[in-house]
Amino acid sequence: MRLLFFFILVLELSSKYESKILPAEPYKLSSQRNMFSPSKFFVLGLFRPGADERWYLGIWHHRFPEQVVWVANRDTPLSEPIGTLEIMDANIVLLDEHGTRVWWTNGTSTTPMGSPLIGELLDSGNLVLRHSKSGGFLWQSFDFPTDALVSEMKLGWDAKSNLNRVLKSWRSFDDPSSGEFTFGVERHGLVQSFIRQKGVPTFRDGPWNTITDGKIGENLTYATYSILVTEDEASYFFRLTNDSFFSILRLDYGGRLKQSTWIPKALKPKEHTIPEDMCGWYNKCGANALCGRDASRENCDCLPGFKPRPRSMGFARLGWWV
Ligand SMILES: *[C@@H]1O[C@H](CO)[C@@H](O)[C@H](O)[C@H]1NC(C)=O
Ligand SMILES: *[C@@H]1O[C@H](CO)[C@@H](O)[C@H](O)[C@H]1NC(C)=O
Ligand SMILES: *[C@@H]1O[C@H](CO)[C@@H](O)[C@H](O)[C@H]1NC(C)=O
Repeated sequence: MRLLFFFILVLELSSKYESKILPAEPYKLSSQRNMFSPSKFFVLGLFRPGADERWYLGIWHHRFPEQVVWVANRDTPLSEPIGTLEIMDANIVLLDEHGTRVWWTNGTSTTPMGSPLIGELLDSGNLVLRHSKSGGFLWQSFDFPTDALVSEMKLGWDAKSNLNRVLKSWRSFDDPSSGEFTFGVERHGLVQSFIRQKGVPTFRDGPWNTITDGKIGENLTYATYSILVTEDEASYFFRLTNDSFFSILRLDYGGRLKQSTWIPKALKPKEHTIPEDMCGWYNKCGANALCGRDASRENCDCLPGFKPRPRSMGFARLGWWV
């Protein structure tokens, strides 16, 4: 009897903390049941950002549940906190309480040869689809960002895999559906990054030249930054080197990029926002102008040797990879 009780307890615990979706074992999610990554750093679960009954499958760090870093079904919410993750047709599928497909990955179109496919939430916060007995991912959530990057998640394009990883803002603070702003890497001769509102640039960062350009905000001793620019790839990512720290680079619903970093024992996260002020917005002052930054107001001034004229093409550059 005691032994049986023990076994039931072990089964309960192991299923509670299982971080995998197995072919024969759909993963049932509810408001009471989330999936954890193996070391429990990250959580995959259903959340409700607003007051109405719209539920989303999201990923967040276990210490910061209010900071959702990835949303699966951003444009197709569930009406109840009941969902099932299943391996179906060689993809991860989210089913609602009636068994209707609400969201799915599109890693493969046909069942690939090899060991069975499993879905797994990794300690990096990456939800992946892979063969149970070999490395390599058929699909990964890191390739389809929502509005945020976490450590080791790449932004940018990769010609070989035909991927362009772009951040797309939430519609509002409590609505994760696709918003108006995007942030991505573009190549127009030089590689630059742009924030766009419905396709129109609102912020442009200068050319990406060197690795040192990749620093966002202050020199953080516990983070490294990488920019890779080759014929086939232009990408950016940061990597935290200490698990006690946590950082998110998010494109907020107002079109600002914000890097928030949680430092052990500090009460509030360290924050760095881009553009820092009105001068950072694309073409704020027009051509040949300087955007002034006195403490009380923002103003546009001519560059030496130029006269004021109506707004035209041009921009006041604010380097943000300081
Ligand atoms: C599926 O692929 C399309 C086009 O490649 C992409 O836009 C979409 O985000 C992908 N969906 C998922 C869930 O990965
Ligand atoms: C950041 O660190 C680098 C190398 O350690 C140094 O050269 C640079 O001056 C630092 N920048 C700031 C703003 O502290
Ligand atoms: C990580 O940071 C914490 C807090 O600053 C520190 O106590 C710890 O030693 C660091 N760990 C490593 C491996 O550097």
